[in-house]
Amino acid sequence: MIKQLAGSIREFKKYAIYSPICVAFEVLLEVTIPFLMAGLLDKGLNVTGGGNMAEIWKYGLLLVLCAAVSLFFGAACGVTSSRAAMGFARNLRHDMYFKVQDYSFANIDKFSTASIITRLTTDVNNCQMAFMIIMRVLVRAPMMMIFALIYCFRTNVQMTWIFLAAVPVLAIGLFLLMTHAHPTFEKVFRKYDRLNEVVEEDLRGVRVVKAFVREDYERKKFYAASEEIYKLFVRAERILSFNQPLLMLIMYVCQLLVYWLGAQIIVNTGSTELSVGQLSSFMNYATMILMSLMMLSQVFVMLTMARASAERVCEVLNEKPDIANPANPVMAVKDGSVRFKNVSFGYGRAGDSRMCLHNVDLDIPSGATIGIIGGTGSSKSSLVQLIPRLYDVNEGSVEVGGVDVRDYDIETLRNAVSMVLQKNVLFSGTVKENLRWGKADATDEEMIRACEYAQADGFIREMPEGYDTYIEQGGSNVSGGQKQRICIARALLKQPKILILDDSTSAVDTATDAAIRKAFREDLPETTKFIIAQRISSVQDSDKIIVLDNGRIDGFGTHEELLESNEIYREVYQSQQKGGGDFDGEQG
Ligand SMILES: Nc1ncnc2c1ncn2[C@@H]1O[C@H](COP(=O)(O)OP(=O)(O)OP(=O)(O)O)[C@@H](O)[C@H]1O
Ligand SMILES: [Mg+2]
Repeated sequence: MIKQLAGSIREFKKYAIYSPICVAFEVLLEVTIPFLMAGLLDKGLNVTGGGNMAEIWKYGLLLVLCAAVSLFFGAACGVTSSRAAMGFARNLRHDMYFKVQDYSFANIDKFSTASIITRLTTDVNNCQMAFMIIMRVLVRAPMMMIFALIYCFRTNVQMTWIFLAAVPVLAIGLFLLMTHAHPTFEKVFRKYDRLNEVVEEDLRGVRVVKAFVREDYERKKFYAASEEIYKLFVRAERILSFNQPLLMLIMYVCQLLVYWLGAQIIVNTGSTELSVGQLSSFMNYATMILMSLMMLSQVFVMLTMARASAERVCEVLNEKPDIANPANPVMAVKDGSVRFKNVSFGYGRAGDSRMCLHNVDLDIPSGATIGIIGGTGSSKSSLVQLIPRLYDVNEGSVEVGGVDVRDYDIETLRNAVSMVLQKNVLFSGTVKENLRWGKADATDEEMIRACEYAQADGFIREMPEGYDTYIEQGGSNVSGGQKQRICIARALLKQPKILILDDSTSAVDTATDAAIRKAFREDLPETTKFIIAQRISSVQDSDKIIVLDNGRIDGFGTHEELLESNEIYREVYQSQQKGGGDFDGEQG
């Protein structure tokens, strides 16, 4: 895990190396200071033999110099370690983001958007903080301890043992605390995901929330999620709060013992073995040792928390995109013919082995217009998502242009298959910018033509700034039907071999719907068109219509054939004729 994360340091490696070096120098100078102090006390202010001005000057100047240089290294360490840590976080975020871009729909289903966002923000921040602390404190504390211990040993062995004995006691205590706290931290971050999920859902659906006056309910949901985080943090911190008292206890016991021993030595030997200056600097070093222990314990707290985060970050990095390019991909799509050979498919999410498509066989020639109808949940969307390989089949195969979709270069395939998703999205930016998603270098004429086919040109021209009108995030400043038409135009710009409209004219009035279909028929004769719709009027003039029922093909034929032979189709048609189910009736 650490090795993998370290891979994100890259160009900031030099700072990550400079920083501990600066720390080392800083510590070296810091530990010299009490040593010089002892000299100043014993030689300069010699209590028994009177003062010595020359020695005072010498030690005094050295002290100032040491302090100044140590300050310089301290500052340098601050700068280099922040550069390294911030750079590391930036790279890590990039790595994760790029990885997520490679995810298939199935990978994204697995994580949930909210969780990916928490991982990209909170978790990366925790890793960044941990890295900074490792560079600064994790080098500083042990070094300080070692230098201080050396000096202590040289001053008085007996007294030093007192401290050494304290170290394992503290270490065991810390270890127990950390192992107890880690699982709770893991849980906390999962709850963070939940909190973000609630917030995201609420903000995204704020209009619906208001329309249904569900603010209270949403508030309660948020409260529950945030309360859980609060409780878990309290629990984790309660465990960790023993850290400080444990340390303090050990520190005071050590101090008492040292003073007691030191006083005894001075009294018994009359300052021959231990001078007052030495005792005072010994105490200084002793404090340093305990300080570094304290720092270490705090670092461990941070690292416990960061470990949970680091694991979550690595999960994102290690996730294998389950749709990847084959070894020798086919780089061109011949035509728009589509063939399903005994296809079965299930989302297989969280051990769910249910299939939503069963043994589907279809053979569709290039250029045909195919209508797909069926009740909600009858797997219409699932069926067409297999064509641009948004998901992979579980059994059988899907062929486009006579080649298995799994043999294509994914980009080639998806460029040839334009799909207007049921849950379509516009991005913030002008109408033009949105249209250019379909074709980056589209000319104005091309865009206008696509919009004319999609019956979008008219209303776009009426908007305040025409094609340069700004569309808000999620397309909140255009109507549902307008959004659908812009999305269709965007898909058309790709000049695809296969065009899939998943319920994409549901919010468009029947006359416009008919006009769009007419434009398709006349202007895109080469393109294979799949039209999923709820209204039979939207599909009845197709070459063939697929009737889906519970993931099985119940009927496949022209409008007339199906009226004759397919019970479901006939019933739906009759009820829609009467105005039931769809008040648009058959005026289209
Ligand atoms: N991402 C997903 N993860 C797991 N199950 C899914 C997912 N998407 C759809 N399903 C399930 O697959 C089945 C078919 O869904 P699908 O979206 O294909 O139906 P549909 O015919 O398009 O319905 P609608 O007319 O409402 O759009 C449903 O039972 C649904 O619960
Ligand atoms: Mg659907």
